[in-house]
Formats: sequence, C-alpha cells, structure tokens
Amino acid sequence: MSELKIESDIAAVIQTAIEKHGRNRDAFIPILSEINHVLGHVPGEAFREVRNQLNVMNGQAPVAESQLFGLASFYDMLSTKPRGRHVIKFCENAPCHVVGGKAVWDTLQETLNLKNDETTPDSKWTLVTTSCVGLCSVGPVLLIDDDVYGNVTPEQVSDILERYE
Ligand code: FES
Repeated sequence: MSELKIESDIAAVIQTAIEKHGRNRDAFIPILSEINHVLGHVPGEAFREVRNQLNVMNGQAPVAESQLFGLASFYDMLSTKPRGRHVIKFCENAPCHVVGGKAVWDTLQETLNLKNDETTPDSKWTLVTTSCVGLCSVGPVLLIDDDVYGNVTPEQVSDILERYE
C-alpha cells in the first residue's frame, strides 16, 4: 500500500470517528479508541491528522498532538505501536503477584521470547501488563483478546497459548 493511500485511509477513519463522537474534549478517547479499533493501533501520523481535523472550525482551545499522544500512551486499551493478532494482558498488581503471578509472567515471557509491550516477529502475539482487572480473587489473571483466564499456573501457559491460531 502506498504511503499516500495509507494517509488518506487514516484521514478517512479519523473523519468518520469525529463525525460519530463529536469534537469536544470528551470525544478524544472515543475517537482514539475507534482509530485503534479500525487500524489495530494509533499510528504516529494519526495524532497530527486528529489535531488538524479537530482544530478546523473548532470553537475550543486548539488540541496539541502531544496531548493526544499522552492519552493514547496512558490507556491500556490504546496502543501507539502495531500489535499482534492476539494481545495477552497480564495483571501485574500486587494481589495477583503474591499468589504466583511473577512465575506466570516469567513463563509467558520465556515461552514467547517477549518482554513487556513487545510483539512476536510473526505478529501473532503481543504481550503487555495491565493494572487490576477486578478479578483479584482468581489471580493470577491474564486476558487474551476477550478471553479471561484466572488461577493461572506456569504449567498451564503452553496449553492456553495453543488454543489460539
Ligand atoms: S490484582 Fe490482578 S485482577 Fe486484581
């Protein structure tokens, strides 16, 4: 795909997201979420384009690219880097940690040969940590895409990963 085509696609995705969610500050996260959903991540060019489109005929104070990038970097659900077909989110908070989370995390990293926020060369897996997902009573907890796994042990890691194409 040519660079020009990618840029026009990004602009179209952003235009659609802005038409759907509006231009005020409450819309920033929904707009970025939609871009993330459609493109798989929020690419660098998108921040400039969102800023440009939001700042046209917007009665509010201008939006800065850095502000949008800050939001995309802060929220776990958004990624500024391309992600794999399957995203593993591992809860890193203390209640999961103290019931064996560290060993599960080490096994995940060793099995996939990934560190936090990395993607396998074949783009199958992305491994990231996440904050508490509210399932502390069944820790250690990991999520793969929309699937939730609780009471995970290091021995279960390979079996769980094999369920995904
Ligand atoms: S600390 Fe892991 S789910 Fe709450």
